[in-house]
Amino acid sequence: MSSRILLGVNIDHAATVRQARYRGTHGSVHAEPSPLAYTREALAGGADGITVHLREDRRHIQEDDVWAIAQLPGVRLNLEMACTPWMTDFARRLRPAAVCLVPESREEVTTEGGLEVAGQRDRVAATVAALKDVGIEVSLFIGAEAAQIDAAHAVGAPVVELHTGAFANAWLSPTADAELARLRAGCERAHRLGLIVNAGHGINYDNIRAILTLPHLHELNIGHTIVARSLLTGARAAVAEMKAHLLRGA
Ligand code: PXP
Repeated sequence: MSSRILLGVNIDHAATVRQARYRGTHGSVHAEPSPLAYTREALAGGADGITVHLREDRRHIQEDDVWAIAQLPGVRLNLEMACTPWMTDFARRLRPAAVCLVPESREEVTTEGGLEVAGQRDRVAATVAALKDVGIEVSLFIGAEAAQIDAAHAVGAPVVELHTGAFANAWLSPTADAELARLRAGCERAHRLGLIVNAGHGINYDNIRAILTLPHLHELNIGHTIVARSLLTGARAAVAEMKAHLLRGA
């Protein structure tokens, strides 16, 4: 039932705007916009969860942002992070409701591919276990390939987030249907294995209609398009507009 699909709002790019001017001085009283204030507005607009990606290069969200958001009453925080010992230790201290393990490289503009789980099962399994051990729900951000889905299941992750970026790039082109079919098969496979199925990356106010035809979706994580729309409408209205799509299922 599409009406039950949750909206996770990725607020990284509210911090991107701040860092564009206040890199190195983000804690100053002048620094704006505040990711914490953005979070409050997103929640008021109907966000079911807040997602932040603490990247190694700290290009947008900073450690103190994460701690401040985590302490906000009523926020269900999903921390996106690389599969490293430092981040694992950070997450174990923070104890967000959820962690999504993502691949990360310094050169990329945004998270480009899915996590390579099949090729590094032991490393991912150890991180998944260390996070589950302190009660964190762990999700793996992966491509919709059968090998990655099966590996995610094998390493003990209860949740997968399927990477919708290739579909978003293909949107309105002749290959969009094939990309959507790949995602559909991935959703079916993950669901058959008993995994919770989330999806995200590149979803916008237009292609969301196609995304909402996918089966078994639990949560969508959406960032850039909502922050971009916020410049025109304000954060609360931008989130509410996306939430309305999820509630309508179209
Ligand atoms: N999900 C994951 C795992 C991501 O890395 C990102 C981008 O940070 C998103 C969702 C949101 O993508 P977008 O900003 O394109 O909506």
